[in-house]
Amino acid sequence: MDWQSSLIKNLEWSDKIINISGKQKVADEIAAKVKDGDIIGVGSGSTSYLALIAIATRIKEEKLNVKAIPTSLELSMFCSKLGVPLTTLYENKPDWLFDGADEVDPNNSLIKGRGGAMFKEKLLISSSVVNYIIVDDSKMVSKLGTNFPVPIEVFPQALLYVEKELKQLGATSIVLRPAKGKDGSIISENGNLILDCKFDEIGNNLEKDIKSITGVIENGLFIGYNLQILMASNN
Ligand code: 5RP
Repeated sequence: MDWQSSLIKNLEWSDKIINISGKQKVADEIAAKVKDGDIIGVGSGSTSYLALIAIATRIKEEKLNVKAIPTSLELSMFCSKLGVPLTTLYENKPDWLFDGADEVDPNNSLIKGRGGAMFKEKLLISSSVVNYIIVDDSKMVSKLGTNFPVPIEVFPQALLYVEKELKQLGATSIVLRPAKGKDGSIISENGNLILDCKFDEIGNNLEKDIKSITGVIENGLFIGYNLQILMASNN
């Protein structure tokens, strides 16, 4: 088996996404937005994978000149496997982007980062003109932090310092993402460590306050970004 097939076979989502009609419907909606010449940011999540497959089909069938900027190595490999041409932020910025999320609050603020790619995800969302976030209703919460902690990417040698500073910001639980954790990536896309942190209160300034700690590369809070939420029905 070649590396690409083995990658696809091993990806957890492959079981998760088959025959889920609500997600497929939103994935098709995303694919229908593709225009010839588009540069598209490609994020992660089960519906995003379905959308990418649908986009790859359109590129092939309609011979569209479309390029993707993926948010992770895994997605770069998947784009290659599907024949979706890649580009980078050195050459282009995305016209639009699609990505998943772990939590969405009523103000369309998010928690992301279960996959450990929040740095590139935030960079792409900040660089892109239009951002579609695809979720099912299990991701909608009245308050961020309800079901997921806030993932924080930390330069390894800054761990103790960052931990101390996070406590000052009100972190009530700080867990180094375990090496054999079943939920999420162990280390970030950039080879850094990830702290999963709980806060009693996630205020509007917390994203920037966490980011300002020396040694923090990025965090999974997306507060006040320009996002359009697309909901996949679970029925
Ligand atoms: C990863 C994320 C993902 O987008 C998130 O995990 C979505 O996954 P799914 O749609 O399969 O639940 O934020 O960093």
